[in-house]
Amino acid sequence: MLCETTEEVRRKYCIMGLRENEMRRLGLIPFLTMFLVSFGIAGQASAQAFDLFYQGPKVCQECHEEEYKVWERTQHATGFRTIHRRKDVSAKDIIEAEGGETSIRQNETCVLCHFTPSQTSIDDTPKIAAGPSCETCHGASSIWMAIHDDYGGKDVTKEQETPEHKRSRILSSSDSGMIWPSQLFDIAENCMFCHGMTNEEYDARTLKNMIEAGHPVRGEFELVIYSQGTVRHRFYDPADPKKNLEMTPAELARMFVTGHAVAFVKASAAQDRIPTKKYVEAQKRRIAAATTTLNAIKGKVPLAADLLANPRAGIARKLVASIKDMDLSAEVKDLLPDPKNYK
Ligand code: HEC
Ligand code: HEC
Ligand code: HEC
Ligand code: HEC
Repeated sequence: MLCETTEEVRRKYCIMGLRENEMRRLGLIPFLTMFLVSFGIAGQASAQAFDLFYQGPKVCQECHEEEYKVWERTQHATGFRTIHRRKDVSAKDIIEAEGGETSIRQNETCVLCHFTPSQTSIDDTPKIAAGPSCETCHGASSIWMAIHDDYGGKDVTKEQETPEHKRSRILSSSDSGMIWPSQLFDIAENCMFCHGMTNEEYDARTLKNMIEAGHPVRGEFELVIYSQGTVRHRFYDPADPKKNLEMTPAELARMFVTGHAVAFVKASAAQDRIPTKKYVEAQKRRIAAATTTLNAIKGKVPLAADLLANPRAGIARKLVASIKDMDLSAEVKDLLPDPKNYK
C-alpha cells in the first residue's frame, strides 16, 4: 500500500516503522482523500495521501513545548542512548537470538518497538534519531499534521471554528492516522502492541527466542501505573497551560478499566501464541487482573459480563465508549494502584 510505490530500502523502513494499527488505518486513505477533496480543505493533502511516515518528535516541539519537556525525561526518550549499554539485560544476547542485523538501530525487529524512524519527506532516507516518541502514541503524522490544527483556514482562530469544522477536523485527522487523546481505547491498544508483545504481525518464533534470551515481558504492565508517572502530560487548563494536571478519581477509574478491558482482549488472544513460560505467565497474569476488574464493575456496566464471556475487541471498544461519562471510582477503589508505584 502506502510504501509500495517507493524504492526497496524505503519500503522496508516505511513498513517496519508502522505497526498493525497504523496499517489498518492506511486502508482508510482512499476514503480520506475523497473526504478531504469534498470538503475542499486539502488539495495538498490528497497529493500526499500516499506518503505516510514519521517525522520525529522535534517537529512537534515547536508547538507542544510542554509535552516535549515531559517526554524528554521519560525512558522512551532516555533509553535511546542507554539501551544498548544496559548491564541487567543484554541487548547483544537478544539481538543474537533475533538473528538479523547486529546493530539495534538497524535491526528491523528492534526498530518496530524501540525507535522512531523519522523522515522529512517520503523521498528521504529514514533516520533513527529517537526512541518511542510522540507519533508512537499519537500516530505517524505526515498526513494528519496539516489537518489537526487547522481551524478552517489561515485566519480562523480556535474560537471562530465552527462545530461542523471541528467535527470534520477531528474525524479526518483520525482517519489519516492520528490518535487523539480522547480515543482512549486506541491509546491503550497501542501500548499493548509493544508492552504486551501481543501484535500478531510479530513473528512468534523470533519473539520466543528473544524472550528466552532475556527480553522482558512484564505481566504487570497496567495502564494507570505506566501512564500516570513520568509519561503523564495533561496540559488541558487554558488558564494555566503549563500546569500538568493530575487525573480526577473518575478519570483514573476509566483509564484503569480501559487498560484492563484492552489487556483482557489482547492477552486472551495472545496467550498461546508464543510458547515460552515467561510469555504465557505474563499473559495469564494480565487476564487474571483484568478479570478481577471486570467482575468489580459488571454490576454497573453490563458489557463487562459480556466481555468476560467473550473477549473480543468489538465488545471492549463498546464497553470503553459506554463508560465515557461514568464514575467507576467506587467500584475499583480497592484495585487502583498506589501512586507510589507509578512509573
Ligand atoms: C504548528 C503547530 C503544531 C504542530 C507542529 C503540532 N501541533 Fe499538535 N496541535 C496544535 C494545535 C493548535 C492543537 C489544538 C487543536 C485543537 O484545538 O483541537 C493541537 C492538538 C494536538 C493534539 C490533541 C490535543 C487535545 O487536547 O486533544 C495532539 C495529541 C497533538 N496535537 C499532537 C501533536 C504531535 C504528536 C505533533 C508532532 C507530530 C504535533 N501535534 C504537531 C498545533 C501543532
Ligand atoms: C512502539 C512501542 C511502544 C509503545 C506503543 C509504547 N511504549 Fe512504552 N516503552 C517502549 C520501550 C521499547 C520501552 C523501554 C525503553 C528503554 O528502556 O529503552 C518503554 C518503556 C516505557 C516506560 C518505562 C518503564 C519502566 O520500567 O520504567 C513506561 C512508563 C512506558 N513505556 C509507558 C507506556 C505507555 C503508557 C504507553 C501507551 C500510552 C506506551 N508506553 C507505549 C515501547 C513502547
Ligand atoms: C514487541 C515490541 C518489542 C520488540 C520487537 C523489541 N522490544 Fe525490546 N522492549 C520492549 C519493551 C516494551 C520494553 C520495556 C519493557 C518494560 O519496561 O515494560 C523492552 C525492553 C528491552 C530491553 C531492556 C531495557 C528495559 O527497559 O528493560 C532490552 C535490552 C531490549 N528491549 C532489547 C531489544 C532488542 C535488542 C530487540 C530487537 C532484537 C528488541 N528489544 C525488540 C518491546 C520490544
Ligand atoms: C507513551 C505514549 C505517549 C507519548 C510518547 C506521547 N503521548 Fe501525548 N498523550 C498520550 C496520552 C495517553 C494522552 C492522554 C492524556 C489524558 O488525556 O489523560 C496524551 C495527550 C496529549 C496531548 C493533549 C494533552 C496536553 O498535554 O495538551 C497532547 C497535545 C499530546 N499528547 C502531544 C504529545 C507530544 C507533542 C508528544 C511528544 C513530545 C507526546 N504527546 C508523546 C500518550 C503519549
